[in-house]
Amino acid sequence: MTQAFAAPALHLLLLEAARALSLLRAGRSLTEALEACPPALRPGTQALAFAGVRAHGRCGALIAQLVPRRAPPLVEGLLRAALAQLLSEPPSYAPHTLVNQAVQAARKAVPAQAGLINAVLRRFLREREALMATALMTPEAQFEHPVWWLQRLKQDWPEHWQAMLLEAQKPPPFALRVNRLQQTPADYLARLQGAGLAARPLGASVPEGVWVDPPCPVTQLPGFADGAVSVQDGAAQLAAPLLLDGVGSLPDLPQGARVLDACAAPGGKTAHLLERRPDLQLLALDQDAQRLRRVDETLQRLKLQARCAAFDARDVAAWWDGQPFDAILLDAPCSASGINRRHPDVRWLRRETDIAQLVTTQAQLLEALWPLLAPGGRLLYATCSLFAAEGRDQAGAFLHRHPEAREHPVPGHSGHHLGLPENAGVAVHGAGFAVPSDGFFYALFVR
Ligand SMILES: C[S@@+](CC[C@H](N)C(=O)[O-])C[C@H]1O[C@@H](n2cnc3c(N)ncnc32)[C@H](O)[C@@H]1O
Repeated sequence: MTQAFAAPALHLLLLEAARALSLLRAGRSLTEALEACPPALRPGTQALAFAGVRAHGRCGALIAQLVPRRAPPLVEGLLRAALAQLLSEPPSYAPHTLVNQAVQAARKAVPAQAGLINAVLRRFLREREALMATALMTPEAQFEHPVWWLQRLKQDWPEHWQAMLLEAQKPPPFALRVNRLQQTPADYLARLQGAGLAARPLGASVPEGVWVDPPCPVTQLPGFADGAVSVQDGAAQLAAPLLLDGVGSLPDLPQGARVLDACAAPGGKTAHLLERRPDLQLLALDQDAQRLRRVDETLQRLKLQARCAAFDARDVAAWWDGQPFDAILLDAPCSASGINRRHPDVRWLRRETDIAQLVTTQAQLLEALWPLLAPGGRLLYATCSLFAAEGRDQAGAFLHRHPEAREHPVPGHSGHHLGLPENAGVAVHGAGFAVPSDGFFYALFVR
């Protein structure tokens, strides 16, 4: 056996996961926190860190019982990483191996606290039942979400909130979008199967969507570097067809139509629009210049072209040339509560006060962009949110302010929220809609 293929030692992975989890306490996202992880340790660390976040409520309630004063961030991170593994069903490691490895990690990074880590984890193993019974008395531990989030979900989804919370604890599906300019989805499915990857189509409402199960690194996807395919959630793949295709009485966008993607970064939907319609004159804006660079990179990989510009889309005077748009995609900044499975840290990073601020920004963006549409033009408002305030209430308020706007019914869109987990109830899916994906809201307004 060569050293190069040896699995990294568990104590190294626990330590890296502890670092990532300690940064979460400082308000950094897990994606950001994992960027500092050495590449060889990243897959294992990511698995441990995500498990830590999915057990955040339970680990917090256990640590509150087990450690009298708040532990330093790295010590708390290590306890969280180890406790989450001890709680996992089925367990991935024998409990005593896990404790020994956590202590070894502590000796390396926080030697003065190694005794504490040992004592806390061993006490957990001895008194697990009683400690868990107390922990589960807190709603954060019982439901693995902050209380304000639970209340909002209960209010917005009185029949489905519990199923939605359970769904949020599952790992996300690995969905791909096939680049139609290079091959048909059926041809790419055959390429995947030829490469030994199990894959199937996502469903008729997302014709370019493919589901690969089990997930694999993108480097194993045939043609990824050459732009054959991109990673994109199923519900997000509805934006391009909704904006571009004739829905009901709405015709297809004309050749060479002027399209604005107002909040474009990192560029998933920009690319999808252009893969379907490379003839479009597309302007991609984002207020975050650094994130906008990722749009450029994506377009280069996929060999697509758009004009990219870093502006606050609300500051119309700074960037608009006065030529009306035929179509606008407003994929607005939002709570990201609908992509809770892929980003389980978001629920713990967000504050309830963020929601009101986001709702205000979304309304300002709608107000600023609506007048830029040509008569008969269309605006697709989208958020990856499950909260009514960012979805149906926002759309309702817009229609109230703009009696000249017509909301165009979106097929398969009963109740406005799309892509809810199948076990959250078929009532929220429209007829024929079957993307086992995330919470997304779409409203299509015609001027
Ligand atoms: C939901 S993300 C967009 C995702 C993107 N459409 C995609 O499919 O890859 C929202 C984006 O809006 C940007 N944003 C937030 N406020 C903005 C504003 N006032 N003007 C322009 N961009 C804004 C953020 O930087 C962020 O990149």
